[in-house]
Amino acid sequence: MAEKKAQLKIDGIDQTFSLPVYSGTMGPDVIDVRGLSSQGIFTYDPGYVSTASCESQITYIDGANGVLLHRGYPIEQLAEKSDFLETAYLLLHGELPTSEQKDSFTNTIRHHTMVHDQIRTFFKGFRRDAHPMAVMCGVVGALSAFYHDSLDIREDHHRQVAAHRLIAKMPTLAAMVYKYSIGQPFMYPRNELSYSENFLHMMFNTPCEDKAVNPVLAQAMDKIFLLHADHEQNASTSTVRLAGSTGANPFACIAAGIAALWGPAHGGANEAVLKMLAEIGDEKNIDTYIKKAKDKNDSFRLMGFGHRVYKNYDPRAKVMKQTCDEVLSELGLEDDPMLKMAMKLEKIALEDEYFVQRGLYPNVDFYSGIILKAIGIPTELFTVIFATGRTPGWIAHWNEMISGDYRIGRPRQLYTGNTPRDY
Ligand code: SDX
Repeated sequence: MAEKKAQLKIDGIDQTFSLPVYSGTMGPDVIDVRGLSSQGIFTYDPGYVSTASCESQITYIDGANGVLLHRGYPIEQLAEKSDFLETAYLLLHGELPTSEQKDSFTNTIRHHTMVHDQIRTFFKGFRRDAHPMAVMCGVVGALSAFYHDSLDIREDHHRQVAAHRLIAKMPTLAAMVYKYSIGQPFMYPRNELSYSENFLHMMFNTPCEDKAVNPVLAQAMDKIFLLHADHEQNASTSTVRLAGSTGANPFACIAAGIAALWGPAHGGANEAVLKMLAEIGDEKNIDTYIKKAKDKNDSFRLMGFGHRVYKNYDPRAKVMKQTCDEVLSELGLEDDPMLKMAMKLEKIALEDEYFVQRGLYPNVDFYSGIILKAIGIPTELFTVIFATGRTPGWIAHWNEMISGDYRIGRPRQLYTGNTPRDY
């Protein structure tokens, strides 16, 4: 890293602090403030708006220009030419696989898709109407009970096995969560099916009927997983890194990431978009809701709009919209009222000064829910789908940190509480 300097002068302190400034291969320079704590000074950045928490080589986002690169490859090209497992390999290993590497990786994932049979009994502790993300948090966290002792995170081979197990088992667990909620028997994965075909097979087939998976829907499912695969240091990935920095096992770290993703401001937004469209109900009500979204005294926000980093169109939303059109025309749902409402809402919002001025554009969650609903996935399961897609990104960031130099994450604070007083 080329080193420049930043000079920090604080009123009332004679000393001028000279801080190293580093440049990455792309993106903003960073000021290394690590030395400030020994001078009795902290930086202050609630929500980490201006804080680089780590150095990473996995994903690059340029929010102003709507750019998203995975190991340098634009998301638009990966969505068009790659597939989810190949992109997962790219995120984990830094390069696209050769055809032999891709076959071997796909084969490895295929042969880790089953879960320990005792996991089936875990589900019995949940009510049938438990939120799927609650079940997912519990069951993925429980995986560490099965693999914890055999996992030395300092061993690269062990980290690879954990990565394969997690990528392979998430769809199986996601489908089990759904089957449990509707009282149908769990379906076993089938090794001859592709990753996304297998997921839709486990979701919608039963022991009584084993229909072929619609290839258009399998392709759409694969693209949805791919578009969610990674996204730099978002809230859930930062959670995985923070949990991992304590030495916790990868299953516990991914369970922590799932918990963070659940919130409606993050991965829960796709579920919230569908609920919002249902609440708006009719195009004639759109203006009322746009007013609510702009009203500071109203907590309502336009779900699926806005982003901490993208102040331009989220490049994933563009691809998601194309996929939405493909799926709905395949299913003869071009006139889907939900889609028409979403497009009208997008049009009105993008012409409204409030949204334009704040750079509030549709994000990855705005159209994904419409596709998932068309495929037949229940709204409550949408964030479970997001978690399944994001698992390669989470585990790639965990692995990047654990395989390098890292310290336990331990932020400080601005204390404004009571000064010492006697009881
Ligand atoms: C994801 O980080 C990632 O990369 C996340 C993600 C990933 O792949 O991991 O991309 C996935 O989480 C996408 C975002 C999904 N969330 C939603 O769609 C929920 C709706 N969006 C908002 O909650 C909000 O836009 C956030 C949480 C996404 C971003 O919040 P910020 O960066 O903290 O922005 P902010 O709250 O400071 O908003 C800036 C201004 C505020 O107005 P002012 O105070 O300046 O007047 O924009 C307003 C906000 O009130 N605003 C909105 C709005 N989003 C922001 N107003 C109405 N509707 C919205 N959706």
